[in-house]
Amino acid sequence: MNLPGFPVVRPRRLRTSPALRRLVAETSLNISQLVLPLFARSGKKLRRPVNAMPGVFQMSPDEIVREATAAHDLGIPAVLLFGIPDKKDAKASGAYARNGIVQQTTRLLKKELPSLLVITDVCLCEYMEHGHCGIVHQGRILNDPTLKLLARTAASQAEAGADIVAPSDMMDGRVRAIRAELDNAGLIDTPIMSYAAKFASAFYGPFREVAESAPSFGDRRSYQMDAANANEAIREVALDVQEGADMVMVKPALAYLDIICRVKQEFGLPTAAYAVSGEHAMIKAAAANGWVDERAVTMESLLAMRRAGADILITYAAMEVARWLKS
Ligand code: PBG
Repeated sequence: MNLPGFPVVRPRRLRTSPALRRLVAETSLNISQLVLPLFARSGKKLRRPVNAMPGVFQMSPDEIVREATAAHDLGIPAVLLFGIPDKKDAKASGAYARNGIVQQTTRLLKKELPSLLVITDVCLCEYMEHGHCGIVHQGRILNDPTLKLLARTAASQAEAGADIVAPSDMMDGRVRAIRAELDNAGLIDTPIMSYAAKFASAFYGPFREVAESAPSFGDRRSYQMDAANANEAIREVALDVQEGADMVMVKPALAYLDIICRVKQEFGLPTAAYAVSGEHAMIKAAAANGWVDERAVTMESLLAMRRAGADILITYAAMEVARWLKS
């Protein structure tokens, strides 16, 4: 760039009034970009707070509808649904049961709020007795046999009415398996939002308490990505796109802005950033201590994700953010 330089050029000229700053703003936050994660478990009028995440609850389907209605009324276009089953086993039966908790809740949501998008998380960890995202044999997480279960899970969710399915397991080839199963079932118009670049992150800690999905042995490093790798993230996304992902996600968000930026630039697909549980918890904790301004810090973080290239923002603060954007 060939700028004439000071004193002819004065960048501060465009910062002299709120209206001028607004006129030249390059990025914006909008309610239409927000997705609210929700956690369903069986019961009635159940709203169970979780220690690690203030403001986040395990909710029975009727309460999920209440919460989703509030989100919908604020203009939030979508919720992301997770399930906590009554029983866990070694083949994650609850994940693809016709009347599983996510399937039930999805049916209810689509009946009560047909215009709210329901995105369902496709994973097995919440439904497995060992808490891993795949079938375990002799201490190893098996890839190919797991694909069938993931595909069944996605199809059963889509049959229950899910508008978008979002696989978060990080098995190789799962997008292809899910696409094939959906197409087989005639669900050719159900998009896949793949957690394409999902890192093995300590920022998921609080989520595992909410979803009751912490692995009972070992960790997730044999399937989720190493935080050191950026080129590999591009390969992961390329594979998912090749296999039929309609949208891609980078997760976590704030510590991986470089990945969001490269993914958006290379593929140009609708790109989601997931501001995960630990990111949310850090802001909440600091704000509760009076150390940071919760609203300002939350908005600045989300704006950074937008600037990096994220189109869709998945955040536990979606309702608060929507209220702030309206006020
Ligand atoms: C399930 C899943 C996880 C998250 C979303 N889907 C946890 C994990 O991989 O252990 C994390 C979300 C969050 O931390 O907010 N595989």
